[in-house]
Amino acid sequence: MSTAYHGTFIHAVSPFQIEILPETTVVVSDAGVITHIVRGDLPAQVRELAPSPIILGNNEFFVPGFVDTHVHAPQYAYAGAGTHVPLMTWLTEYAFPAEVKMRDLDHAQDVYSKLVDRMVANGTTTALYFATIDVDPCVWFAKIVQEKGQRAFVGKVCMDRNAPPEYVETTAESLSRTEEFFAAVAALKTDLVEAVVTPRFIPTCTLELLRGLGELAKRYGARVQSHLSESRDEVAFVESLHPGEGSDSDIFAAAGLLTSKTVMAHSIYLSDNDEQLLREHGCGLAVCPISNYFFAGSTFPIRERMHKGLKCGLGTDVAGGYSPSMLQNVRALVLASRGRNHHDSTALIADYKCGFYVATRGGAAALGLEGVVGGFAVGMQFDALRIKVGGPSNPVDVFPGDDWERKFEKFVNLGDERSIKGVWVKGRQIA
Ligand code: GUN
Ligand code: FE
Repeated sequence: MSTAYHGTFIHAVSPFQIEILPETTVVVSDAGVITHIVRGDLPAQVRELAPSPIILGNNEFFVPGFVDTHVHAPQYAYAGAGTHVPLMTWLTEYAFPAEVKMRDLDHAQDVYSKLVDRMVANGTTTALYFATIDVDPCVWFAKIVQEKGQRAFVGKVCMDRNAPPEYVETTAESLSRTEEFFAAVAALKTDLVEAVVTPRFIPTCTLELLRGLGELAKRYGARVQSHLSESRDEVAFVESLHPGEGSDSDIFAAAGLLTSKTVMAHSIYLSDNDEQLLREHGCGLAVCPISNYFFAGSTFPIRERMHKGLKCGLGTDVAGGYSPSMLQNVRALVLASRGRNHHDSTALIADYKCGFYVATRGGAAALGLEGVVGGFAVGMQFDALRIKVGGPSNPVDVFPGDDWERKFEKFVNLGDERSIKGVWVKGRQIA
């Protein structure tokens, strides 16, 4: 049995263009795939497929669900705190202790449930997650996210050096536990949750571990994620560990970890050669604007890098970024690009359309899910948000004469979870 949705649909078709489809019916199959998109009157044959469509009210529209390309699930426990220290100190003082605490599965249940509920309420339908180094809490997380129905890619974090004695593995353990985690996720028999090869970043992974993970990724045909050239202190640390061995990009490439299924977070400090390596290997980049304000000490040149053919998605980087809201991160991306332009008038500005593109279709492309999620088209999966603007306790006010484009722009700039009235993943309503 199909389901039909009738109203206005709005999505980004490029970094510069929003398409608005008013009075449109979208028919979604049982399998969650869009089978018809019809403007205006419905042909009888389509009406028979889904006789009682869900009809949107005044001031409502559908947008694609958000794709968060970088988030640390255990760090949600302290999101909104620890914003006063640089990256390497923050890892020791906040991130590692919070991740160790996930060994208490009751605590993990509490943090992970609240995080996924919060992300879904804020419209995130797909997420690429870092969990922790321990297999059991990682499997616990995969089960929670599966139950909640979000589309999720989950990494068991790997670290075999420069980590606290109570939160580090041997190289062999790191590799065998990664395989254990892959087997546990495969046993869940879900098409929405997938395991990801996840070296934390070069400072906490020996070259032997990186090479082992590169081989493993190849053998499993698996996705890969890590952090790349994130901040000045991180870049300096890698230089001191590997003098003369090149940049993060060179080291990951040599280990076989730059693939078309790789997403590298941050990627702030890139040489021309690094950009070329990332482009040639077809890697996705997770741009994390809130986090960058705190750790990177610089701004990701989003328009310039997209123009160079790099696939850029948006990431919250909870809790390096304090907010799990993709809308907050869209705004931070726009403000950061404007701030960059204040210092360099040749720097290209990203507007709200570009921000929305990166948060939806751009993220999908970075994850290799182009044509699967991130927009509305026949053959794509129905990952969608029902948006309402105006009305009591809605952060967005509307006034006579506001057209769809204005309502959409207001939602992007002012909306929050109170404006998101329904969330669908693969045709299933999960909130
Ligand atoms: N680099 C290595 N680990 C982390 C982390 O947990 N968060 C961020 N933002 N950067 C990292
Ligand atoms: Fe991160």
